[in-house]
Amino acid sequence: MRIVDIIQRKRDKEVLTKEEINFLIDGYTDGTIPDYQMSAFLMAVFFNDMTDEEITYLTMAMSQSGDTIDLSAIEGIKVDKHSTGGVGDTTTLILAPLVASVGAAVAKMSGRGLGHTGGTIDKLEAIPGFQVEIPNEQFIKLVNKSYVAVTGQSGDLAPADKKIYALRDVTATVDSIPLIASSIMGKKIASGADAIVLDVTTGDGAFMKNLADAERLAHTMVRIGKLANRQTMAIISDMSQPLGNAIGNANEIKEAIDALNGNGPVDLMEMVYVLGSQMVVLAKKADTLDAARQMLEESINSGKALDKFKEMIRNQGGDDSVVDHPEKLPQPQYIIELPAKETGVVSKIVADQVGVAAMLLGAGRRTKEEPIDYAVGLYLNKKVGDSVKEGESLVTIQSNREDVEDVKDVLYRNISISDQGEEPKLIHKIITE
Ligand code: URA
Ligand code: CA
Repeated sequence: MRIVDIIQRKRDKEVLTKEEINFLIDGYTDGTIPDYQMSAFLMAVFFNDMTDEEITYLTMAMSQSGDTIDLSAIEGIKVDKHSTGGVGDTTTLILAPLVASVGAAVAKMSGRGLGHTGGTIDKLEAIPGFQVEIPNEQFIKLVNKSYVAVTGQSGDLAPADKKIYALRDVTATVDSIPLIASSIMGKKIASGADAIVLDVTTGDGAFMKNLADAERLAHTMVRIGKLANRQTMAIISDMSQPLGNAIGNANEIKEAIDALNGNGPVDLMEMVYVLGSQMVVLAKKADTLDAARQMLEESINSGKALDKFKEMIRNQGGDDSVVDHPEKLPQPQYIIELPAKETGVVSKIVADQVGVAAMLLGAGRRTKEEPIDYAVGLYLNKKVGDSVKEGESLVTIQSNREDVEDVKDVLYRNISISDQGEEPKLIHKIITE
């Protein structure tokens, strides 16, 4: 088999065999296939797509390219949740302790943020002492004991994806359905959960800018999950504006604490309940979605969910007193308001650009090596559909530098005020087949 023939076949819109796909992934992982040939292959896929069968072979090859995690030592059904990427997406921070508090085992592998999107692992590191790199045995022990642990992607999990993702990032081949589906599901399958709830985002802040593409991505991933014997479902959610109010790290921990106290933003809580109910039903802790939702609401009202968050923080070496004293989280030096320039209704908040504004403050990273400033971020005082008066604050900028004109510029250019604006529909579709 020659790699150049495989590239040529994909270039000519032919369908690759399982053997060819395995040859490609194995060779790229062990370094015998160079970046330039893989780049050409990725671009051919970007233009010519793949069949469902090819995507499944690609996913399985990715998942088997390194370590796989065996969670069978954990009792019961282990559920995982994954989002295809968002801005200010605080849901995992809330869902992990919340779902665990009703007895479903949450074994969550999370990623770091890159570019305009934030990562749950970075946010958790804003909690003093919190360890995100925990050995597999410890991870399994914690899930068994407390029904919850959140960890970064372990060293050698799906190494093919790590290499390919880095290459996609610099060859303009990130936003391709077969490549995204195999990247996400390859990791999810390798990390061992029995049930997977996918949040496929759509809109400016997402990889999938329109609903039709998001739907195809969701269907593709659900099908792959089922072929790999994992119960899988997807919701398609709106990411045209950021989710909730806080965008950053420490401020999103604070937003999660508020949510677990019953004071979360409406849109964020809706996402939490919709995703959480699915997780609880897949874990067989409730028979219906309504019953599951009721359990989750009760857990928040009784304080059980908040206690579980404290337990999760303690388990991973963090200082759980931040939950009752959020002022102990990293705090910014400057609080700067962004006044509205006119009176009207907020009609648009471009999610990815608001993510870029938060990144400019230091809340996110442009390159993988860049450090993060946990204290900084943005707080949206107005969301799409809200009325605003001239001079009223649209956004609170939490900064460690005094001059934030660049950030203000980006925000003013990407928040529109007009005569009317309508709150966007949050959940577009639920896909189980
Ligand atoms: N998230 C991933 O893990 N992979 C992709 O390709 C896109 C989003
Ligand atoms: Ca948020």
